[in-house]
Amino acid sequence: MLDIRASMDAPAATPPVIRREDYQAPDWLVPAIELSFALDPARTVVSTRLTVERNGTHDRPLKLDGEELELLALRVDGEPREPRFENGRLVVELSGDTAVVETEVAIAPEKNSQLMGLYASGGILCTQCEAEGFRRITFFPDRPDVLSRYRVRLEADRQRYPVLLANGNPVEQGDSGGGRHFAVWEDPFPKPCYLFAVVAGDLRCNADRFTTMSGREVDLGIWVREADLPKTQLAMQALKDSFAWDERTYGREYDLDRFNIVAVSDFNFGAMENKGLNIFNTRYVLADPETASDFDIDGVAAVVAHEYFHNWSGNRVTCRDWFQLSLKEGLTVFRDQGFSEDMGSAAVQRIDQVRTLRAAQFPEDAGPLAHPIRPDSYLEIANFYTATVYNKGAEVIRMMRTILGPEAYRKGTDLYFERHDGQAVTCEDFVRAMEDASGVDLKQFRLWYSQAGTPTVTARLEQDGGRTTLHLSQQVPATPGQETKQPMVIPLRVALIGAESGREVAAERLVLLTEAEQSVDLGAVDETAFLSINRGFSAPVIVNAERRAGEIEALAAGDSDSFARFEAGQELMTRDLLAAITGGGAVEVEAIIAAVGATLRSQSLDPAFKADAIALPGESLLIEKLAAADPARVHEVREEVRRAIGTRLSDELQRSYAAASAADPTSLSGEDKGLRRLRAATLALLAAGDAELGAQLAQQQYDAARTMTERQSALNVLAMLGPDAAKAALEDFYARFEDDPLVIDKWFAVQAQVPGEATLESVERLQKHPAFTLANPNRLRALAGNFAATPSAFHRADGRGYDWLAEVIVAADKLNPQTAARFVAPLGRWRKIEPGRAAKMRAALQRILAEPELSKDVFELASKSLG
Ligand code: TRP
Ligand code: ZN
Repeated sequence: MLDIRASMDAPAATPPVIRREDYQAPDWLVPAIELSFALDPARTVVSTRLTVERNGTHDRPLKLDGEELELLALRVDGEPREPRFENGRLVVELSGDTAVVETEVAIAPEKNSQLMGLYASGGILCTQCEAEGFRRITFFPDRPDVLSRYRVRLEADRQRYPVLLANGNPVEQGDSGGGRHFAVWEDPFPKPCYLFAVVAGDLRCNADRFTTMSGREVDLGIWVREADLPKTQLAMQALKDSFAWDERTYGREYDLDRFNIVAVSDFNFGAMENKGLNIFNTRYVLADPETASDFDIDGVAAVVAHEYFHNWSGNRVTCRDWFQLSLKEGLTVFRDQGFSEDMGSAAVQRIDQVRTLRAAQFPEDAGPLAHPIRPDSYLEIANFYTATVYNKGAEVIRMMRTILGPEAYRKGTDLYFERHDGQAVTCEDFVRAMEDASGVDLKQFRLWYSQAGTPTVTARLEQDGGRTTLHLSQQVPATPGQETKQPMVIPLRVALIGAESGREVAAERLVLLTEAEQSVDLGAVDETAFLSINRGFSAPVIVNAERRAGEIEALAAGDSDSFARFEAGQELMTRDLLAAITGGGAVEVEAIIAAVGATLRSQSLDPAFKADAIALPGESLLIEKLAAADPARVHEVREEVRRAIGTRLSDELQRSYAAASAADPTSLSGEDKGLRRLRAATLALLAAGDAELGAQLAQQQYDAARTMTERQSALNVLAMLGPDAAKAALEDFYARFEDDPLVIDKWFAVQAQVPGEATLESVERLQKHPAFTLANPNRLRALAGNFAATPSAFHRADGRGYDWLAEVIVAADKLNPQTAARFVAPLGRWRKIEPGRAAKMRAALQRILAEPELSKDVFELASKSLG
């Protein structure tokens, strides 16, 4: 037995930069792999048999990635070999064009706190391999363009691990003696190793079936701990809806006899699309109305759909290299967005999508971590699972659909799936399929893949006698490594609304802005026209339109596109909030009051839209629009406006609140969900105007709550009103849900989100609470993620909020670099903050970088954030 540790490389001074332009095809292919796991949480032995094939003509050796593996044996064509390592890789010299390479390694799942590779979560053994976790299980060329057929044998203690799952289909199972049993699984579809998965545990199954469009029966299973079984029904319904939707909308049918989902409580992300065996964060599986809010329930459906849709966009057609990540993620987010739009209210879904983009992606694009949706380089790929790759990536696909039209777009996806089935391809291959299917030239459009930064479109409407001309220009900002930019293709859905008639006086049309400056003739209009632009958010850009008196107010009250109407309201609110923040004086609230009042009184708007439309833009969004923001001032002004709305519109708000209370608490219809959303929004504003009334209504709502939606929104309001108002409800909430980790996450989150400088003290107290742990990503996100996302709490003038976050990052990094790295970005926003605080933010970043044993993950983001 060899005793050699292929542990991580000694941490290099600076980790090497991986560049897209350096891509080379693999030297060796691995058409088949057999894996055998002797499972044990303390020490699992993995025996691997690779059939390798020389790829092309060369004399280079086979190089296998491995990380934290204890190598026990190495054989080539049955003969033992002395292992040789080079830069942490196992190098195997091979003379022929094919060989069988066998390894035996030992790993320690229960010591795996990174949650990458094989790890233990609450008594379950499970894997996470994307992006580069497979190398923590066995030696392998860990890159997505090496596709193999997998045969997997699992052996484990029958009592502790009665259920043994892997990708594909079960082919054999039985007793191994000594209280152990085994199962063998085969996956007929060649796949990259990042899609590999195994699970062992004491799990129960919610089993169901789906008959595909060609009449094949698929066994569906959602596997959870026994106590959680009643909470799997919503996910199962979403799964069946997803199967049907992908057949209907994209003509995509499922391809195996089974589809399994397993839920685990320790997980770095939302979920993972492993072939035929999706592994989920419990947060996106377990839901019932008593413990999950409507928001959570929608999240479950969206993530179930997302992972299922990956079966085609990601698994059947996969990525050549990790720079192509948006190929599968942008496309799959766009597909899950389409699903959510079709299952609920499309207009409200679109508003939510854009909210997310603005909150998470615009700041990224405007800051030190800006990168194109297809990045050019990275130190650590895990850092590039970003809002840019995912959400801006989805917007790029949506723009192609807008430009090509729905039919040509569908022809394009058909061609893409047919042409590249079973291949590992690039973003370029996707765009080419779109071009070939439609005949549309997308040459200039490709800049969306290579240029970072959110373009700004400046618009001015000129009305001159009978002619209406739209003057447009675009500016694409400089971003790190990209000083100069070329003009992009920006599809803008545009219409004109008559100032007197309120009607569409120029029907909607698609304007393609392709030049730096461009003028478009919109025809003759015989009244003053108001500009409705970027309707439906047809392009992910910032629009600066020159507005005439009363224009934005009129559009907020009556734009015929509901998204544009929402936008106009936001533009109006932003205008007046920013004027007060920078002007230093009192806020001009009349226009805002009028707009919110009109929205509340409207008989035609649906309640969910109303809830969105009466909410002021968030503090983070306002900070992004300022040069050197004082977060305390931003909070103060925004609160002043909320107070004014709450006081001046008290009657309307109370009426809406009462009317919305009629929602059937047990119904998950769009209508009832919308009413509950409006109820939460009106309650929050009422409380802003009158703390006493707010406390009374919120406490009543809390006490009477039958669902988490009602309970959580009441608790939120009580927490905002201060520790005295919230005390009883917080205690009750904890006692009531003590045994439900996902609900206890909410208990931490609610308290971490309270505005104001005092929040840090409660966050520090919560950090010492017995239920807090840095080891569980959900819990850590609940506390640290929500705190950092609450500007008036995080940006304490004394800088202690930054210090606290920096310490948490350093401590968490020792356990789980991927998750720790997710908290660096808030510190990197210092460029938007006034100099006093900005200096303290930089100091916190410097302190992180001074740590001796930093992960690549945190190092990359902290150093780039300092700029
Ligand atoms: N591919 C997964 C998804 O879309 C993302 C993911 C899950 C992931 N777990 C991960 C990415 C761990 C990196 C590391 O939805
Ligand atoms: Zn995905």
